[in-house]
Amino acid sequence: MRIGILTGGGDCPGLNNVIRAVLFQGIKKYNDEVLGYLYGWKGPINNLIKPLTLADAEGIFNQGGTIIKSSRTNPYKIEGGTQKVIDNLKLNKIDALIAIGGEDTCGVADKLYRDFKVPIVCVPKTIDNDLNATDQTFGFDTAISIVCDAMDRLHTTAKSHDRVLVLEVMGRHAGWIATMGGMAGAADYILVPEEAFDINKVAEAIKVRKKEAGYAVLVIAEGAKFANEEVLKDGEKDAFGHVKLGGIGERLAKALEEKTGFETRAMSLGHVQRGGSPTAFDRVLGTRYGLAAVDLVHRKQFGRMVSLQGNKIVDVDVKDAVGTLRTIDQELYEQTKVFFGNEIKSAAGVS
Ligand code: F6P
Repeated sequence: MRIGILTGGGDCPGLNNVIRAVLFQGIKKYNDEVLGYLYGWKGPINNLIKPLTLADAEGIFNQGGTIIKSSRTNPYKIEGGTQKVIDNLKLNKIDALIAIGGEDTCGVADKLYRDFKVPIVCVPKTIDNDLNATDQTFGFDTAISIVCDAMDRLHTTAKSHDRVLVLEVMGRHAGWIATMGGMAGAADYILVPEEAFDINKVAEAIKVRKKEAGYAVLVIAEGAKFANEEVLKDGEKDAFGHVKLGGIGERLAKALEEKTGFETRAMSLGHVQRGGSPTAFDRVLGTRYGLAAVDLVHRKQFGRMVSLQGNKIVDVDVKDAVGTLRTIDQELYEQTKVFFGNEIKSAAGVS
């Protein structure tokens, strides 16, 4: 078969592991030809191609980013975009397309499959971990490891200066990175997009923590709402209608300093969370997804997405993965609250 492959949306560590697995499985197991489409959906729209061989898989297992580039291009927002995708797939005699992406990329794949029967298989990617119908997307584990490392470093400097430090992390609509990264890095407060917060309560909690430990480190997701509003970097929207977020950490730090009188600083981890080498977990997950995607293609199970469920790689209908986002597990978030600068309540706790 001739298989096309593209990576769309924000890049993340693990993309190259999927590509490497697709190349090995496709070429070695099935004698396929693999054609890379460059820059996500922009590739099939503008016929930007790069034939891939096993030589392209060499040495990419520990490389972040994607060797076939990425962009946030939406063929449904470009005049004649979907027809160009169809025409260029035909032109290159593509039998199946593997689209690696999150909600936006897989959303387009789902529509192309349902509207025009384009033979597509999806692979779930995003550091935000907010895609439905899978237990985890690759890229997320690396992102929370980076958050964890940053937290370790923030703790020591915060402690030396008796400061309050606020770490802003990614997570547009879902607080997975903040919750899991904050839990791993012993955050004294975690703020997420899914739950409105009362700045007075946060300030009170930080006062308790300061009294007990002398310093505090908080984690806030970029998509958390300050006074019920998202904090925007600028007014711009991308091709999928997403606004650029950023700055909530600074807002929170300023408000906390005003309310507590404690010296408070903020930092934003930004794209550091998306860069560099993937963790072993993401390398393995990306590899397993890539192998399974090629098998799905050969079973001609189009309109499907590979998915992690428990410890097994299965496949699901792409439409079950897109449309709504997978927000944080409320129970998990509730559990983290015991670490949020609470006064000791029970007699047992006092002894
Ligand atoms: O890919 C998801 C994500 O990393 C979000 O967490 C973040 O809001 C967004 O991408 C940033 O996008 P860009 O790199 O296009 O600014």
